[in-house]
Amino acid sequence: MKESERKANYGALIRKALEARTRSYSPYSHFSVGAALLTKSGTVYCGCNIENAAYTPTNCAERTAFFKAVSEGERDFEAICIVGGKAGEPGCFTAPCGVCRQVMMEFCDPETFRIILATDEAHVQIYRLKELLPVGFGPQNVLY
Ligand code: THU
Repeated sequence: MKESERKANYGALIRKALEARTRSYSPYSHFSVGAALLTKSGTVYCGCNIENAAYTPTNCAERTAFFKAVSEGERDFEAICIVGGKAGEPGCFTAPCGVCRQVMMEFCDPETFRIILATDEAHVQIYRLKELLPVGFGPQNVLY
């Protein structure tokens, strides 16, 4: 599939990420993020960022989605869509933090897993995990 076709096909995933963003719990940063994680079988797990008064327990939207999916038995992932921005504002392209990239590395093939950054259905950037985490450290470095 061409990258332009992929873009066209990700509309439903983007809408789910936008909906998840409305559930963000971010009273400290006022930066709300939504994620929609697509499995290879077509199921979508959504997540939002969940902040904490002690700050470090904060969970990013992407990891919320991954941990929901893995805890339900899913391990085969195709793509994740991320939307974020200052609460109450339309949104800006929001790339995953380093910790979330590392969690993706644990469960996803860096050659094929797609990370979709969007502000709405018309404004989309698509990356492969390999591009956002080059020369990554993953399970194959430990399990051999
Ligand atoms: N955040 C995410 O949820 N995902 C990202 O990729 C970047 C950052 C959250 C964490 C925190 O709640 C807020 O955005 C500001 O950093």
